[in-house]
Amino acid sequence: MTENGSEGIGTLQLGGDLTVGRLGFGAMRLCGPGVWGEPEDPRAAEAVLRRVVELGINLIDTADAYGPEVSERQISSALHPYPDDLVIATKGGYVRPGPGRWKADGRPQHLREACEGSLRRLKLDRIDLYQFHRPDPRVAFEDSVWALSELREEGKIRHVGLSNVGVRELVIALDIVPIVSVQNRYNLTDRSSEAVIEACEREGIAFIPWYPLATGRLARPGGALDEISTRHGATPAQVALAWLLAKSPVMLPIPGTSSVEHLEENVAAADLRLTEEEVATLSG
Ligand SMILES: NC(=O)c1ccc[n+]([C@@H]2O[C@H](COP(=O)([O-])OP(=O)(O)OC[C@H]3O[C@@H](n4cnc5c(N)ncnc54)[C@H](OP(=O)(O)O)[C@@H]3O)[C@@H](O)[C@H]2O)c1
Repeated sequence: MTENGSEGIGTLQLGGDLTVGRLGFGAMRLCGPGVWGEPEDPRAAEAVLRRVVELGINLIDTADAYGPEVSERQISSALHPYPDDLVIATKGGYVRPGPGRWKADGRPQHLREACEGSLRRLKLDRIDLYQFHRPDPRVAFEDSVWALSELREEGKIRHVGLSNVGVRELVIALDIVPIVSVQNRYNLTDRSSEAVIEACEREGIAFIPWYPLATGRLARPGGALDEISTRHGATPAQVALAWLLAKSPVMLPIPGTSSVEHLEENVAAADLRLTEEEVATLSG
């Protein structure tokens, strides 16, 4: 593993003024079961976050809905004052009726309150990357995006990102405000966002695949990744991440884990180079 595991795979520019390594960290798994409440060992969760930064990762993905509020508090408690180059990417647009339950709320007033809450919990004057968590079928998508555009104009948000959208929504949003990232579910076994990735490549937008390890399913031995991982002396999780990184120059995976050991393993995936043939075989 290099000092900065993500250096080997290069960096991405978000909005032309933020440079991030192409491997980030997803903080959702540091909450309690069902992404609800505190984890069993809050100190261990904060230790994972500190190790993330030590390993040179400079993009941490979170959301007000994780916990809810727990994840953002953990981040500020573990890492504030933040290193200059750390990009905290949070999200708004979801509320939590209970453990394992999620409800979209894309009303402009809610997004404003959500953003202000995130600013307070993260102890920031401005959020580097604020992502609209999910379109709300009860609210015109344009209205939600306008709300984020206003927050950006007011300086509360530096850059706007989208999550769980199709090409249609991306095109609509780009007419309203510059979009620097799209975060959708994508991994070896779920390719439904291929067209969105192509659109991101055309627009020079980062694509942030969530669920990159299919909640660890892709990390288990005994699957399709075994032969290639054995050949490289790597783990299946590392091959799954290396495949993502090889798929597109705009790809920025955010694997999540509550374990320092898995974190170190995942960061080391940045040093794993798959051959073109291996990428093609895995791509099927
Ligand atoms: N935008 C959205 O709607 C959305 C939705 C879901 C998630 N996200 C974001 O995406 C991030 C990642 O998604 P995710 O957490 O759902 O999926 P993931 O990263 O594919 O899977 C995380 C799970 O995999 C396990 N894992 C991680 N590294 C491993 C390794 N090297 N070996 C074995 N198991 C490993 C973890 O368990 P251990 O803790 O035991 O390591 C954890 O349970 C989240 O943290 C969140 O920030 C966004």
